[in-house]
Amino acid sequence: MTSPNPPINRLKTLLFALSLLPLGWLIWQGIDGDLGANPVETVQRWTGTWAINFLVLTLCITPLRALSGQHWLLRLRRMLGLFCFFYALLHFLSFVWFDHEFAVDAIARDILKRPFVTVGFAAFVLLIPLALSSNNLAIRKLGGRRWQTIHRSIYLIAILSCIHYFWLSKITQWPWPLAYALAISLLLGWRIRERQRKAIPVPRTAKVQPMTFHPHRPK
Ligand code: HEM
Repeated sequence: MTSPNPPINRLKTLLFALSLLPLGWLIWQGIDGDLGANPVETVQRWTGTWAINFLVLTLCITPLRALSGQHWLLRLRRMLGLFCFFYALLHFLSFVWFDHEFAVDAIARDILKRPFVTVGFAAFVLLIPLALSSNNLAIRKLGGRRWQTIHRSIYLIAILSCIHYFWLSKITQWPWPLAYALAISLLLGWRIRERQRKAIPVPRTAKVQPMTFHPHRPK
């Protein structure tokens, strides 16, 4: 027996409020003048961390739904994905604003010069079409299959985000990017296994195949 669905609208409101907490914390610390010795770095690191947190949470939904049979979980996925984009956008804005004061040529030079920035930027650019098409109208216009194909780029985005994180971290800080890489590998690995499981049907005759008689088999 499956458990009844929870009140999804209330759950969404709660999730929305919870998802704004990291931003609230940042604003609170900013007002308090408590962003540490290097406030720009704190803002960049905080927003980047929450972008990757929401990315991982978004990727968790499909396996959680499949393993628990709680199909309503799927209705939270879009919000989590959009919050991933929201924090990535804040992260990008902190870079173009605090690091470069919106000077387009300096931004472009930095993106081309520092490989970890290049990779982060690529992940961000790939997130844009996903965010723009995360609404019912886009799903209707694109059609389910095309929409799904476009949204598969989330796997590439996840891999690029891990590379970005490794690249910008010193070796002594590697446990964190390593933990995210492990979580993302498990989530992607689960999907690959599911696809293989669904793609190769077990032969129905497998059980009744004669195993005992073979004229040329040595005794
Ligand atoms: C999906 C997109 C992105 C994700 C998930 C992401 C994630 C992260 C993470 C996890 C960190 C490290 C946080 C920490 O050390 O605690 C970080 C730092 C950083 N990211 Fe990103 N990032 C993304 C896109 C970008 C973009 C578009 C840029 C700039 C063009 C960028 C520039 C930076 C910079 C400058 C830092 C700080 C490096 C430092 O502290 O020295 N990232 N990012």
